[in-house]
Amino acid sequence: MDFITIAKQRFSVRTYTDKKVEAEKLDKILEAAHVAPTAANRQPVHLIAVQSKEGLEKIGKAANIYGAPLAIIVCADHDKAWIRPFDKKQTGDIDASILTDHMMLQATELGLGTVWVCYFKPDVLRKEFDLPTNMEPINILVIGYSDEGEADINRFGQQRISMSELVSYDKL
Ligand SMILES: Cc1cc2nc3c(=O)[nH]c(=O)nc-3n(C[C@H](O)[C@H](O)[C@H](O)COP(=O)(O)O)c2cc1C
Repeated sequence: MDFITIAKQRFSVRTYTDKKVEAEKLDKILEAAHVAPTAANRQPVHLIAVQSKEGLEKIGKAANIYGAPLAIIVCADHDKAWIRPFDKKQTGDIDASILTDHMMLQATELGLGTVWVCYFKPDVLRKEFDLPTNMEPINILVIGYSDEGEADINRFGQQRISMSELVSYDKL
């Protein structure tokens, strides 16, 4: 499948079957994160892949993961992240999100459903997973087999801003 087809097929899945994600598929998803670029190749990132009943219950205290069998907490390590010298902007969140997007699209290619979750209680997640202060949970990627069927790959005309609103050439 070509890239744009995978990107169009992906949609946020909020109903999952009970089927577990196979270990080989999880390995491929994690490999997609491993090869992702980060600023200055600092790799200020850590993934917590959660599949156990206890682990999923712990995440469930902080976020709605829609009953999925797998969730990956994507953390940024602020002790390692690159900082742009001119304005001190730190790129840990960006790096974590690139990994998240790589994993999300790899999961789609493997026939899995996903939803990217930022609506979580960071303090609860920190406590449940003993995260040190430098390690910030940025995203939760929820993964499993969709119980929602497929999305219309022609939906973007309605669901996204127009190309002319999105893009301008040579000036704002
Ligand atoms: C940074 C980010 C945070 C998001 N947080 C949540 C969330 O907490 N809960 C949720 O159900 N969906 C969340 N979403 C999914 C978006 O609502 C969804 O991607 C958007 O509405 C477009 O729909 P689509 O993914 O089906 O194309 C998030 C997506 C992104 C990119």
